[in-house]
Amino acid sequence: MLTLALESSCDETAAAIVKDGREVMANIVASQIDIHSRFGGVVPELAARKHVEAINVVVAEALATANTPLSEIEGIVVTRGPGLIGALLVGLSFAKALAIGRQLPLVGVHHIEGHILAPLLERRVEFPFLALAVSGGHTHLYRVDGIGHYQILGRTLDDAAGEAFDKIAKLLGLGYPGGVLIDQLAAQGNPAAIDFPRPILHRDNLDFSFSGMKTAVRNYVEKQGMPATDDQLADLAASFQAAVVEVLCHKSRRALHKTGLQRMVVAGGVACNSGLRDGMRQLAAELQVEIIFPAPQFCGDNAAMLAVAGDYYLENGQHSPLEINAVANWPLDRLNL
Ligand code: KG4
Ligand code: ZN
Repeated sequence: MLTLALESSCDETAAAIVKDGREVMANIVASQIDIHSRFGGVVPELAARKHVEAINVVVAEALATANTPLSEIEGIVVTRGPGLIGALLVGLSFAKALAIGRQLPLVGVHHIEGHILAPLLERRVEFPFLALAVSGGHTHLYRVDGIGHYQILGRTLDDAAGEAFDKIAKLLGLGYPGGVLIDQLAAQGNPAAIDFPRPILHRDNLDFSFSGMKTAVRNYVEKQGMPATDDQLADLAASFQAAVVEVLCHKSRRALHKTGLQRMVVAGGVACNSGLRDGMRQLAAELQVEIIFPAPQFCGDNAAMLAVAGDYYLENGQHSPLEINAVANWPLDRLNL
């Protein structure tokens, strides 16, 4: 089945053409970073307005890249939630219009379901597996027993890991989005230079907390002043990143122990982080388990990742009715809303 997938949950307008939920023929992402960076974060109304301008452009580009006329598309996949409601409604309304106009089946997919199934675009991954979803809005551990079967094992009690990266970058005047900028700086710094706290690291659960870490960095900067040299800035970035990575790896280790699972997927924008990739590689070697990362183009927000679940649901006749609405807050273990 040839599907057209659409994503507009936050600040990327994306369209993809995917064959059989596996073969990516086009994966177009239009980023709004330039628009939001001067505000230091995503402005929801601006995001929605920019999606309206960009969505038909990315769809046309995806069809052209895949060298596929719209008449050959057999199903429409779209992010239904979670995300910014105005932003989600643009993709969902466009998807409905295409479905009606072309008489095609439509399916609304959970954004995080897209992220954690993204590795299946590139390779086989046997179920069950553990998934760590780390993005701007999520830091969750899931047990994945199959497409559509997810159990939440742990979650952040406050900020998401990506949000923490973005807030620290903003505090340091680095710009938005901050994750990739901190990652680059951290590569030049000493991760042991500053001993930032690792909140709830030793609590016997699979939850996370990042807001205390953010406060610790803010207090450090207030006390010591802003880093005066490039070396000091790099040390601060490296020390902060090391604290985040240690927490993510430690809780993942605990989850692997608790569940006995032998495979793990790390997905979402923060899965691009080089410190996290190194830490998880060490964990995989230590525990003799397989830890899988999507390719970078499938880590951050994109539409191709949605087609894995989308294709599966459409092939199983699980279409969404045209009455479906967008869902801003949507736990992954409550897919049947
Ligand atoms: O999955 P994503 O593109 O969007 C959401 O669903 O939120 O994730 C975006 C998040 C942002 O917070 C961004 O700063 C973070 O992923 N991010 C990174 C890196 N690249 C993106 N964080 C740390 N290191 C990176 N290299
Ligand atoms: Zn995302």
